[in-house]
Amino acid sequence: MPITTCVFDAYGTLFDVNAAARLVAEDDPRLAKIWPQLAADWRSKQLEYTWLRAVAGRHCDFWQVTQDGLDWALDSARLDDPKLRESLLALYWELPAYPEVPSMLAALAQRGIKSAILSNGSPEMLAGAVEAAGIGELLSACLSVEDVGVFKPHDRVYDLVQEHFSVAHEDVLFGSSNGWDACGAAGYGFTTVWVNRTGAPLDRLYAEPHHILKDLSTIPDLI
Ligand code: LAC
Repeated sequence: MPITTCVFDAYGTLFDVNAAARLVAEDDPRLAKIWPQLAADWRSKQLEYTWLRAVAGRHCDFWQVTQDGLDWALDSARLDDPKLRESLLALYWELPAYPEVPSMLAALAQRGIKSAILSNGSPEMLAGAVEAAGIGELLSACLSVEDVGVFKPHDRVYDLVQEHFSVAHEDVLFGSSNGWDACGAAGYGFTTVWVNRTGAPLDRLYAEPHHILKDLSTIPDLI
């Protein structure tokens, strides 16, 4: 593959979106048993709201849908506690990166491959997560849907890669742990990797990812 540029989704792919609920559960007995469900509800509502807003043409930024998704999840768990809400949201700004992320990005840089983020996240949220993970020096760009005002998997989002790097579709390897995002990017024309960390079934959409990996560690071997 003549890949020159690797582009990664952020939440769930580079950064562990379940970490906020998991970390709060360490000190809050109310979450001890339910944190996996809370994290799953939060994530699924957050994503649902991105798709609904994109279809309805009523964009807001990812911070808004992140808060709205959490409010739904807390409501569903019958947890009405503004301090708990605040703690969970604060952790979302400094989600840890998955352990293999820094070495994978360093291996790509060593081969002269550029790496970037392409995310629904707002520029501020992405800057916070990148700084907390200490991976800023390994990234050439952090591209946010806020530049086009619509969420993934709209083609206008994937256009941002070519607009920023002036590369052809076939020069780009796009990696996401969100199956629908990997399918969307494949439909757009990128070579794609679905990082299927949980062994989930393949999404039935208009295109399929080219590669399926368990984590990001072997991405450099694909190039
Ligand atoms: C993102 C979401 C989809 O980072 O996880 O774009």
